[in-house]
Amino acid sequence: MLVEVRPVARLLRMSGRDPVDLTVALDPVLRAAIADAQGPDELARLRVVCDWVQYRDNFREALQLRPVLGGRRNGPSPALELAVDLRRAGPDLGAVTAAALREHRGGDDAGRLTLEDWVPTSQSLIWSFNTLYWQHLQLWEQATGRGYESALPGGQSDARNIESIREIIRELFAAWDELAERRALPEELYIVELGVGNGSHARTWLDTFVELDRAHGRDYYRRLHYLMCDYSPHVLELARASVADHAAHVSSFVLDAMHPMTTLGFLRFKAFLVYISNVYDNLPTDEIATIGHREHLVQVRAYLPADRAEQIARCAGTEPSGLGRLVTRLLKLGPVLLAEAAPEHFADVEAAVAFWRACWQAVRLAERYVPLHGLDTYDIAPGISGELLRPLVATGRDVRMHAANGAAASFAETLPLLHPYGRLHCHDLFVTGVEDYRTGFRGPGKYDGSVVNWVNGPLLAHIGTRKGFDVTFEPFAHRIGSNIITMRVHVRD
Ligand SMILES: C[S@@+](CC[C@H](N)C(=O)[O-])C[C@H]1O[C@@H](n2cnc3c(N)ncnc32)[C@H](O)[C@@H]1O
Repeated sequence: MLVEVRPVARLLRMSGRDPVDLTVALDPVLRAAIADAQGPDELARLRVVCDWVQYRDNFREALQLRPVLGGRRNGPSPALELAVDLRRAGPDLGAVTAAALREHRGGDDAGRLTLEDWVPTSQSLIWSFNTLYWQHLQLWEQATGRGYESALPGGQSDARNIESIREIIRELFAAWDELAERRALPEELYIVELGVGNGSHARTWLDTFVELDRAHGRDYYRRLHYLMCDYSPHVLELARASVADHAAHVSSFVLDAMHPMTTLGFLRFKAFLVYISNVYDNLPTDEIATIGHREHLVQVRAYLPADRAEQIARCAGTEPSGLGRLVTRLLKLGPVLLAEAAPEHFADVEAAVAFWRACWQAVRLAERYVPLHGLDTYDIAPGISGELLRPLVATGRDVRMHAANGAAASFAETLPLLHPYGRLHCHDLFVTGVEDYRTGFRGPGKYDGSVVNWVNGPLLAHIGTRKGFDVTFEPFAHRIGSNIITMRVHVRD
């Protein structure tokens, strides 16, 4: 039997924080697992993994059972994983474990309302919820009375940090001055932002640009084109209102950040800056796990726990069995049309939004591990083979990590946009070494109505390096205690 404890820092008294008492959390789980086992062989094939899930809203119960499919290859291999969230490990965990093992053995799903078939995480309907959130942001924010930024690390977006913006603009001026001296500076100076949110970064950036340009005295503002891109027309509308003072220098594009080339192909080799913040961590991703020297793909299945399904169904005037259909309609139509299409369930748009929020709050992901028959049989994104993950997963030890499919696709398609003097600048939650996956929980979590996963930095660095770019990571320098990392990318000198 293997017991893996990831959040080791939480076991120590650090920064005045009470340490987690591991033995108290684990004791009832192990006792229940041992009591339930039908022989030493079964115990030998059990894994227990402990995380500390820092996201108060997430997709897990305090205890989760994850079957490991694929059976034996070379001797006994793990068949079942018990995943414990140490943050929520309470005195009832023994009884919870015993019940979960009983249900697992009996093929009983405890009355869960299953919302989809087993799929790789990047294809789960949680991403439809995520899209819905950005498409109808204002309705959600009105209902909660909170802006999306309050859910970001530190309670605000570091994208608006003026010092960071000044630094980026000064770097641009230095590059442009050098090109101008050689008469190689193009007339049009293109800046791209992917995933603009409410436009507050764009506005701060443009205001700061005007101020620094005045002092610099080269009138670069006259030649500046700021391209705001987002897949939500609604978000772009909010952003456009935010930058109204700079309207003559701003264009907006509805595009999927995972396929920027489709719309921005005309910018190949022309963008001096591509700026992205808090977007990669919001793009769909799978997880790959090495368990007993074998790579597995994590598959998930979204469900609503029985008690929550009953509650939500009651509010919507239906039976739990009718909920799945209503959720599908919500994800397809959005809350406004849903209220129109199903007045017998929702008196008005507010009621449809309340239904949406309740479903999102309650939705969980069941997980299982399915063996991969070689990383080369798995595509991270079109043209990006799973083989790129080999140096990260083949460390001789078990590890579970994100394949960062959306971020990798976006990154690989963005690089060709860069001018030879161009820069890609990204602020996000990055894992910067494989060890980070062994020592902390990296998602998925819920931020208000959206999904968050840390981004596999070493994988992006690998992709960039192979394409001839320098990729560096450093902690965001302008806010103390932030988890945000700055990724800088430019053509290798
Ligand atoms: C967390 S917000 C970040 C906003 C802003 N960059 C900031 O840091 O405050 C994520 C933004 O990415 C956008 N987004 C998410 N997935 C996207 C996709 N696939 N294509 C384009 N935009 C996307 C959302 O609509 C939203 O505007």
